[in-house]
Amino acid sequence: MRVLGIETSCDESAVAVYDGERGLLAHLLHSQVALHAPYGGVVPELASRDHIRKLLPLVQQVLQAADSAGSIDGVAYTAGPGLVGALLVGATLAQSLALAWDVPCVGVHHLEGHLLAPWLEPQAPAFPVLALLVSGGHTLLVAVESVGRYRVLGESIDDAAGEAFDKVAKLLGLPYPGGPALAALAESGAPDRFRFPRPMLDRPGLDFSFSGLKTAVLYAARDAGADPNEQDRADLARGFEEAVVSVLTEKCRRALGQTGMRRLVVAGGVGANRRLRGALSEMGAGMNVEVHYPRPAFCTDNGAMIALAGYHRLRAGEIGATPVRARWPIDTLQPPGRRFG
Ligand code: KG4
Ligand code: ZN
Repeated sequence: MRVLGIETSCDESAVAVYDGERGLLAHLLHSQVALHAPYGGVVPELASRDHIRKLLPLVQQVLQAADSAGSIDGVAYTAGPGLVGALLVGATLAQSLALAWDVPCVGVHHLEGHLLAPWLEPQAPAFPVLALLVSGGHTLLVAVESVGRYRVLGESIDDAAGEAFDKVAKLLGLPYPGGPALAALAESGAPDRFRFPRPMLDRPGLDFSFSGLKTAVLYAARDAGADPNEQDRADLARGFEEAVVSVLTEKCRRALGQTGMRRLVVAGGVGANRRLRGALSEMGAGMNVEVHYPRPAFCTDNGAMIALAGYHRLRAGEIGATPVRARWPIDTLQPPGRRFG
């Protein structure tokens, strides 16, 4: 079965073709970073309009690259969570194509896509796994029994990890999107000049909190003077990154201990962070736990993960013009099955 996947939940127009036998055939992405950069963040209305402009040409290109025009067996689109206007563009195009091609169509949960991204790689893990999902909108620890069987063990009670990266980047004067820029600045920073709090580590449980950490960086930046120099900013960035990485790593260690799971998958944009990957790999090696990551391009939003998640659901006979939605708790999902969503 060959599936076209369409992702438009935020500021990337992304499409891909996944084949059940041959794997990923092609994937393409148009980033709206330059469009939103002058505003310091994503402007939802501009995002929707740009998806409208870019999506159809991208689909044509990906079908050509995958040599799949006329041989698509199903279409999957991101139905949520995300920006509703942006989601509508992808959902409408997906449903129109499915109607025109007379093939089934299914709406996919964006985070299920992220969570399954490690299965796009050659060394895909076996189930069950513990998943750390760290994106711009979510920070979740999920026990994954199999595709569609998700139990949330912990989540952020305020900002998501990626959101914290973006906000701290902004207060350090870095351009949007902040996460990668902050990580790059932190490379030249001292790890121990600023020791920021490790939120929620002193409490039991697997929830996270990042908004206090952001405030701690704000105060430290003020204390560094009205005009912190490049080294001050790099040291602040590094101190912040160390704190986030150590909280995420420690909570993963606890969750692995509590569940007895032997495999960890890391997904979502913050999963592209080099220091986080280093710390988790080191922890995994010490605990005899396999750690799996998607390649960095499949940590951030992409069409391949939506095509893969859609493949699992369409293959099981699931069809559904799922309405788009801004919020959608992942643990309300059911395993793929023959039903109309
Ligand atoms: O998964 P994603 O592409 O979109 C959402 O579904 O939210 O994640 C985007 C988030 C942004 O907050 C971005 O700043 C962060 O991932 N991010 C990073 C890095 N690359 C992307 N954060 C830290 N280090 C990185 N290298
Ligand atoms: Zn995402």
